[in-house]
Amino acid sequence: MCGIVGYVGSQQARDVVVEGLRRLEYRGYDSAGVALVADGRIAHDKRAGKLANLEKALDERALPAATTGIGHTRWATHGAPNDPNAHPHLGRHGRVALVHNGIIENFAALRAELEASGHELRSETDTEVAAHLLELEVERTGDLTTAMQVVCCRLEGAFTLVAVDSRDPDGVVAARRNSPLVVGIGQGENFLGSDVAAFIGHTREAMELDQDQVVTITADGVSVSGFDGAPAEGRRYHVDWDLTAAEKDGHDWFMRKEIFEQPRAVADSLLGRRTPEGLLQLDEMRLSDGDLRDIDKIIIIAAGTSFYAGMVAKYAIEHWTRIPVEVELASEFRYRDPILTRSTLVVAISQSGETADTLQAIRHARVQRSKVLAICNSNGSTIPRESDGVIYTHAGPEIGVASTKGYLTQLVACYLLALYLAQVKGTRFGDEIGQVIDQLEQMPDHIASVLAQSEEVYALAREHVETRSVLFLGRHAGYPVALEGALKLKEIAYLHAEGFAAGELKHGPIALIEEGLPVLCIVPPQGRDFLHDKMVSGIQEVRARGARTICLAEEGDESITPYADALVRLPQVPVLLQPLVAVVPLQLFACELATLLGHDV
Ligand code: M6R
Repeated sequence: MCGIVGYVGSQQARDVVVEGLRRLEYRGYDSAGVALVADGRIAHDKRAGKLANLEKALDERALPAATTGIGHTRWATHGAPNDPNAHPHLGRHGRVALVHNGIIENFAALRAELEASGHELRSETDTEVAAHLLELEVERTGDLTTAMQVVCCRLEGAFTLVAVDSRDPDGVVAARRNSPLVVGIGQGENFLGSDVAAFIGHTREAMELDQDQVVTITADGVSVSGFDGAPAEGRRYHVDWDLTAAEKDGHDWFMRKEIFEQPRAVADSLLGRRTPEGLLQLDEMRLSDGDLRDIDKIIIIAAGTSFYAGMVAKYAIEHWTRIPVEVELASEFRYRDPILTRSTLVVAISQSGETADTLQAIRHARVQRSKVLAICNSNGSTIPRESDGVIYTHAGPEIGVASTKGYLTQLVACYLLALYLAQVKGTRFGDEIGQVIDQLEQMPDHIASVLAQSEEVYALAREHVETRSVLFLGRHAGYPVALEGALKLKEIAYLHAEGFAAGELKHGPIALIEEGLPVLCIVPPQGRDFLHDKMVSGIQEVRARGARTICLAEEGDESITPYADALVRLPQVPVLLQPLVAVVPLQLFACELATLLGHDV
C-alpha cells in the first residue's frame, strides 16, 4: 500500500502535500516524492528512503511556488525502492505527472506496446506505463479528465491514480478501482488522499467515491464521473475525529500511542449497544433478525491480525450460538471453491476496509448469494460499502503499521456479534447475555491495569535484545493470541517468531526448543481446569528442555510460579474474553523490543 495526496487551493501546495504525506507515512515509507504545477511545467522531486530524505532535498533545492500539487509515499511492489522507481512518474515529454497506489496487472503488455512505439521508460514500475499512456491521451484530447477515463479503461488490476497536467495549473484528476481514495472538501481549496488523515488538518468534510470513478478537483469544485464519462455523484460525509487523533500525542511511535488508547477504544466500541430494556442492539448492522435467524453456518474471512480476531470469534460464536464457524484467510478463500448457501453468513473483518484479498473474497461470497457482514474500523471504506451489513468498531484512526487497538476493537465487535446472534436465535438467556456485556464493560479497566505494568514488560524486552527467535504458546482463545504476539514481533522487530497451539508442540515443534529460547506462554484462567492444567504441563515440558518461560497468567494463579522464569499478571476474566487483556503485554513487548533494536516502529 502507498500514501497519496493531491491539493488545489491558495496555500503552498508543497507544504500541504508534504504534511499530508507525513500523516500517510504509515502506508508506505521506502520512498517519497512530490510534483507541483508551476509556470507551465511540472516541478518534481523524489527520493528513496523515508519522507525526511525528500524533505531535506526539498529544503536544499526550493521548488517554485505553486498552489497545485500531488505527492506519494511508496511501499514497493514493482521495482526496488530507489530514486528512479519512486513516484511521481512523468510522461514521455514531462507534461503529465502521476502517482499510483495498487498494481496494474497488465502493465507488461502495455509496457511492450509503448516500447515498440519508441517510448523509453526510466523505471521498473507499472506506474510509469500509466503515466506515459496518460500523457499520450492528454496530448490527443487536450483534457486530463477525459484522458484519465480513457486510460483507466485500459488498465487491469487495482489502482488509485492521481495526476496533474503542466498546462492546467487549476486542477488535479484522480481515479480509483479497488483501491482507496477520498476527497477532502475545503473552502476555496480541495484535497485528495488515500485516507482522510491526509487532509484532516484542513477539513473534516469528505467525499467517498465508488468503484471505477474519476474525480477532478479545482479550488472551487469537485466533479465525478464514471470511467465511461457518465456524470456521477460522490457521497459527502463528516469525519468524526480530528487532527489530535492523527498525531502522536507525546509518544515516540503511533503504535505505542495506539496501544495506550485501547481502554478508550474498547469503551467506545461498546457505547450505545444496549436498549433501555437491556437488550443488545447493533444499529448499523442492516441485517434483519429474520435474516440472522436463518443463518446455519458462518464463514469468517480476513487477513493478518484481523484473521486472528476471527479465530477468537469462532470460539465465542460457536460457544454462545452453536452455529458452526469456519475461519479462512481471505487470500485462500477467494481462489478456491467454498461451499456457500443463502443461509451462510460471511463475516469480513478488516480494520482498513480496503484490504484487496478481503474485498475480493466478499465479492466472491456475494456472487453466491450469501449475506456478507463487515466488521470494520474505517467509515465509508469499500468493504462495508459492498457488504449487506456492518458493525463499525470505534478505534479511531489506526496509523501505526502494526494493528493494536484495531485488533482489540475487532474482538469486541466479534463478541457483540456472537451475543447478538445468541439473542436473536435464543441460544442463551437474556440475563446470561447481559452478564457477558457487563463483563465486557469492565474490560477498559482491566486493559488499563495491564498497561500499568508496561515498565515490567519493557524490562523483559531489555533482557531479550540479543534474542534471535521467540516462541509463543497458547490454548483455546489463547492460541490466536499466541499467533498475534508472534506476528507483532515479526512485523516490527524483524525477529523470527512462531505461535503454536500448546497441544501441538509434541507433534514436532518441540524440536525447536533449545537452551535459553524465550517462550511466551498465555496461561488460561484457572476456572477452566482442563485448559489451565494442560497448559501448565506444556510449560513444564518446554522448560525441561531449557526454554526460558515468560508466563502471562491471571492474578492469584500460584500454580504457575514454579515454572515461570518471568511472570506478567493478567486480570481475572473469563477465558473467552481473555484475549482482550492477554494480547496487550505482547504488543508492548514487540513495540519495546523493536525500539531497542533500532527499528522504525
Ligand atoms: O485492514 P485489514 O484489517 O484488512 O488488514 C489486514 C492485515 O493486513 C493487517 O491486520 C496486518 O496483518 C497488520 N498490519 C498486522 O499488525
